[in-house]
Amino acid sequence: MKPFDLAYHHASAHGIVAAVHLPDAAAPVPEEVLDRLHPGEVAHARTLGGFRQVSFVGGRLALRLATQQLGLQPPAVLPDDRGCPELPEELIGSISHKRTLAVAMVARNHGATLGVDLEDYGPPRLGIMGRVLTPRERAIVESLPADRQWPALLLRFSLKEAIYKALDPWVRRYVGFLEAEVDPDTDGGAAVHLQLEGGEGPFDLDAQYCWLHGRLLSSVRVRPVHPGASRPDAREEAGELVAAGSERD
Ligand SMILES: CC(C)(COP(=O)(O)OP(=O)(O)OC[C@H]1O[C@@H](n2cnc3c(N)ncnc32)[C@H](O)[C@@H]1OP(=O)(O)O)[C@@H](O)C(=O)NCCC(=O)NCCS
Repeated sequence: MKPFDLAYHHASAHGIVAAVHLPDAAAPVPEEVLDRLHPGEVAHARTLGGFRQVSFVGGRLALRLATQQLGLQPPAVLPDDRGCPELPEELIGSISHKRTLAVAMVARNHGATLGVDLEDYGPPRLGIMGRVLTPRERAIVESLPADRQWPALLLRFSLKEAIYKALDPWVRRYVGFLEAEVDPDTDGGAAVHLQLEGGEGPFDLDAQYCWLHGRLLSSVRVRPVHPGASRPDAREEAGELVAAGSERD
């Protein structure tokens, strides 16, 4: 179990998952580990300190390993202005990390986006319920036996974080926990009902979860219901001129 080495691969319906062990201590990432990344990624890692450097490097290594599993050359992946990993046109992907593990999910781009979230099971934090759940979700969770309330809450929390990441390229704003309602089933899927305050969409969401090596892994794939919808361009939002007639997908 060497830090920054592969922990596991996993093929899911949304893409290839790769996980990388992270060191328990937040010491600077060794140079021989940084050497595995692209120079641009290394330059970004050097701007980060403590666990942020460790987790950033772990996430990028996991993304590389997952991309290689797809049979593609790993690209340099830097964060966009909102922190979302900026992948080349042919790929979609997402990253999540916990104290000792970083995971990335990658798939070929067929007009959707991906969000992934990794959660440790415990300790239970039922106090987040009011912030994370809508009144209807809360009534469902609170009606469960006491020992089932935390897993039911954690599942909804994790799926919502994955929803956030997958939605961000389309909406490019903070989406609150109460803008989505999640009804997980017992087969690793979940129904999602979005009520986006900005009126964006409509979107087609596919949400999945599994317990993998003792942790919860959630993933969400988002695609616009109307094919041909385009993702907002960050440069346009920043007020920079995008040449008239330039092509976007
Ligand atoms: C952004 C957020 C989801 C990140 O989750 P987290 O538990 O803090 O951290 P994770 O380890 O799971 O994920 C971090 C990774 O998310 C990715 N990420 C960060 N901002 C992102 C964004 N705007 N869009 C997509 N992915 C993003 C990055 O890859 C980041 O890792 P990196 O910086 O090493 O590349 C979380 O901080 C947040 O703001 N949540 C509240 C909003 C929310 O979940 N709403 C629910 C809507 S239904």
